[in-house]
Amino acid sequence: MTPAERIAELRRLIRYHEERYYVLNDPEIADAEFDALMQELERLEADSPDLVTTDSPTQRVSGRPAAGFDTVEHAEPMLSLDNAYSEEELRAFDDRVRRGVAAAGETVEEIDYVAELKIDGLSVALTYENGTLVRGATRGDGVRGEEVTSNVRTIRAIPLKLRIPTSSGASPSGSPGEPEGFAPQKIEIRGEVYFPRRAFERINKEREESGEPLFANPRNTAAGTMRSLDPALVAKRGLSAWMYQLVGGPEGPPLQGPALQPEIVVTTHSDVEADLQVGLQTHAETLETLKAWGLPVEPHWRRCRGVDALVAFCREWEEKRRTVGFDTDGVVVKLDRVDLRATLGTTSKFPRWAIAFKFPAEQKTTLLKSIEVNVGRTGAVTPFAMLEPVFIAGSTVSMATLHNSDDIARKDIREGDWVIVEKAGDVIPRVVGPVSSRRSPDSRPWQMPAECPRCGSRLHRAEDEAVWRCENTSCPAKLQRGLEHFASRGAMNIEGLGESLIAQVTGAGLVKDYADVYALTAETLEQLERMGKKSAAKVMLQIERSRTNELWRLIYGLGIRHVGERASQVLARAFGSMEALCAATTEQLEETPEIGPVLAESVRSWLDEPRNRGLIGRLREAGVNMEIPPDERAAAAVERRLKGKTYVITGTLASMTREEATAALERLGAKVAGSVSKKSTGVIVGGDAGTKAEKARTLGVPVLDEAGFLDLVKPES
Ligand code: IVH
Repeated sequence: MTPAERIAELRRLIRYHEERYYVLNDPEIADAEFDALMQELERLEADSPDLVTTDSPTQRVSGRPAAGFDTVEHAEPMLSLDNAYSEEELRAFDDRVRRGVAAAGETVEEIDYVAELKIDGLSVALTYENGTLVRGATRGDGVRGEEVTSNVRTIRAIPLKLRIPTSSGASPSGSPGEPEGFAPQKIEIRGEVYFPRRAFERINKEREESGEPLFANPRNTAAGTMRSLDPALVAKRGLSAWMYQLVGGPEGPPLQGPALQPEIVVTTHSDVEADLQVGLQTHAETLETLKAWGLPVEPHWRRCRGVDALVAFCREWEEKRRTVGFDTDGVVVKLDRVDLRATLGTTSKFPRWAIAFKFPAEQKTTLLKSIEVNVGRTGAVTPFAMLEPVFIAGSTVSMATLHNSDDIARKDIREGDWVIVEKAGDVIPRVVGPVSSRRSPDSRPWQMPAECPRCGSRLHRAEDEAVWRCENTSCPAKLQRGLEHFASRGAMNIEGLGESLIAQVTGAGLVKDYADVYALTAETLEQLERMGKKSAAKVMLQIERSRTNELWRLIYGLGIRHVGERASQVLARAFGSMEALCAATTEQLEETPEIGPVLAESVRSWLDEPRNRGLIGRLREAGVNMEIPPDERAAAAVERRLKGKTYVITGTLASMTREEATAALERLGAKVAGSVSKKSTGVIVGGDAGTKAEKARTLGVPVLDEAGFLDLVKPES
């Protein structure tokens, strides 16, 4: 066998086993055997770099962290679903469907539906060209989403190549017994990316161990992960996906082969018509086809004839929802016959042929033992409930959020009450309210403490806010929480410097701000209780290592309000150094893509605080890295060379569409506006331009013709 043949074989085998493991949850070989296949492929590819292709399983994580995402327009809008919250609403939906079908002159006794689990994740659109994954995009606003291809590629359930021969005759990837047919030239497949519950629990366990705040729920974490700029981090998190929809691309696929019948060929590209293009007449056939192509399809879907069968499915899964390895918040009901879908059509927001039946939130009654308050990193003092442990929605709950003191007063929740606890879409349980009939006669309304439980300072509350805050800048609770965040895995990643050690070093007065961490020595640490020589040395090594962290970790670690992991990455890339960030005006901050006015203001006011400037100075003196590497800096400068500039495009361009021109400008950091004003940097005028060009001239705004525009956006050499 030649290396090329072995490489092809290994790729087929690896994809086959990836599918067994990540899609079918039914592995055939041990992890070590799988790793051996992967290592062999890596070795062969290293020997023959010219044989490496982007759809090789070794290339799932490729590319470096990006400066930001491009936005892309969906082949057609990604619609949302109307909701049904009760059996009645589900029956009303069926009535509407039957009336619609009857109005179109069809006589159907009972409608055939497909019921699928509603996956609680985020929707994605995958584009395959000639069977190869070329693009992954988030839903965004439904019309335009973010291009997250590098992140999508790391999801092992998603094939980089579909299991069908391409019309160009390129070799197929997949196991024996694959369906015959030809991959459409261009096809879009939609579905949901989600966090498997086990992967989510694993990550939260790791976070707990390193003293980091836990992620609230799998859905938000999946969404946050997909928007991370670092594909290597996404790969580590272990996301997965289920696909459920087929949308055609602009080029009608010339299809052949028994599995895909070519009789019905249409030229437009709504999803309904795309299904027809590939000869699929029912949704059930679509799901079977996606599965046959090697895509992950959630296996519990069922064809249901008539609404009674649907109701039964929904009831059944309301009970069984915890038996699957991902969060499901309902059942999606879809009309099975594709031609009838076309008859019913869509509203501007929803298809009329589908509905989401939402499971009710799970509730339990338990005893509220006490109401405690917690002082957060920003000084916010928030109440929470200590409960008699109760098993609810898959886990035992002994604590629940209580929102804020106003909410407690409004609902009149008291210590010693029996309360209703709920776990809704969020995994975080909350107290819904008291069961007043079971209240003890000597209970008293709860009162928010007037003083900080940690330092005793009087609590304050801003006029327009519901939260009480401790404004003592040296409150030990704030310092402690702040340090926990600073040292956490997502920020400076100082392993070993967790909750208890932080309590010790702050308690002993060794650390009074973040910079003091770098003044710690092995000798001082060894003096602390439960600290051996070995552990002290380990922590010191971690502290030492953290000095060379990427800049964004430091920015994130500072704990500036509203500045999360992602905003920190964006700021680091946009400004390149802490010095430049400190010098940035609010306007410059706001001009940074993805940084809005609230965030810009928050960063600026944090930096204006002399104490904080002092802290940065001391961190710098301690040798903490405050810059991004020079090559990234150069790349960022090129990418953002039109930062702060605003252009207007009018008329038709000969070289590209309006969307492409917009994307080209946005990629370089410019904004594209719809109308001309004095503030516009320039107006790009194509053929048949209207009044905007004239307005630009009247206002004295520079006008660029197409050649000028191309010159502006051409890559710098
Ligand atoms: S079909 C035009 N099927 O739920 C209809 N959506 O609340 C497209 N979702 O935006 C959606 N599981 O992100 C469909 N089995 C499923 C789903 C599902 C989850 C999501 C999807 C959609 C949202 C609407």
